Amino acid sequence: TAEPAGLKDAASFPIGGAINIRRVNEDAKLRAITTTEFNSITSTNDMKMYRIAAREGQLDFARADSTVAFAEAQGMRMFGHALVWHYGLPDHIAGLQGAAMADFLTAYIDTVVNHFRGRIDGWDVVNEVLDTKGGGMRRSPFYQQLGTDYIGLAFRTARRADPDAKLFINDFGTERDTAKVTGLLALVDSLRGAGVPIDGIGLQWHQQMGDDTAVVRSTLRRAAATGLLIHVSELDLIFNTHNDEAGGGTEHVQAVTPAMLEQQAERYEALARIYRQEVPAPQQYGITFWDFTDRDTWIKGFFDMGDWPTVYDENLERKPAYFGFRRGLQ
Ligand code: G3I
Repeated sequence: TAEPAGLKDAASFPIGGAINIRRVNEDAKLRAITTTEFNSITSTNDMKMYRIAAREGQLDFARADSTVAFAEAQGMRMFGHALVWHYGLPDHIAGLQGAAMADFLTAYIDTVVNHFRGRIDGWDVVNEVLDTKGGGMRRSPFYQQLGTDYIGLAFRTARRADPDAKLFINDFGTERDTAKVTGLLALVDSLRGAGVPIDGIGLQWHQQMGDDTAVVRSTLRRAAATGLLIHVSELDLIFNTHNDEAGGGTEHVQAVTPAMLEQQAERYEALARIYRQEVPAPQQYGITFWDFTDRDTWIKGFFDMGDWPTVYDENLERKPAYFGFRRGLQ
């Protein structure tokens, strides 16, 4: 039998890539990889509040629009990331008080979701609402002003603006922090109990080679038991470690050997297989890679360390990890 052309051809669920549309437009090889491998697209940064609402009193959709147009031209699913996130907020948003914060959130979500109505398959409505570690709520500007209520407000506003878009809660660390998983699922449960319209859970899966795959598996099983869609929304897999804060990388590993790349391939294979085994097919919203070349990975700049976390190498060639992941899909 012929080799599948790309990961999307090997999978029974959508395979996504996070892209920066300007880089994809400038770089023919990156563009070819994107269109060969993926049938779902997430914009890495251009749909974030800090981009769209960078300037007070005006919204800038230019880059977001061109990303959506690219996905449509390629017949790919477009995923929206993220309506509400605490990170990098401009002062004119982070400083809003009380009802002014609620009014801003409502107007922002309503306008943005309406702008793309019918063209975005799903949205990360809220991103990283839990603390970095443990199951508590993050003390974000939204939480400080509105308590947990801002989450229900966000989902209800998004649902009204585009009733067909699937609405996700997205978070990280669930591959190693079981208290955080418990907190996330308890939050989902209480929101649903209050009638908040949630369709899916996004598990980012920024993984480390030292993570315990048994925890990855149990988290997926627990999340899938909700009956909601399960999106692996930001997959990558590093050799080094970090403390989740910008600049907080620890570079134990300064070079990779072929044996290490094989171990990474085995881990990628296991991750694809665990997703298929633990998430019932109707709930498989897909797996999205958060950067997919070791040249472009966010890891190096964000944590200030070297690493090789993706399925394509620095020269944009397929790595053992690529073939491992593909084996795990089949
Ligand atoms: O574009 C500027 C450039 O002009 C400037 O010279 C440079 C110097 O700092 O910064 C560039 O912007 C950076 C941008 O990425 C584009 O590369 C920002 O500083 C940097 O903060 C930003 O990082 C992004 C980060 O989110 C913060 O928004 C990463 O690309 C992106 O991969 C990362 O993605 C997040 C998800 O949204 C949520 N889950 C975690 C994930 C990883 O942190």
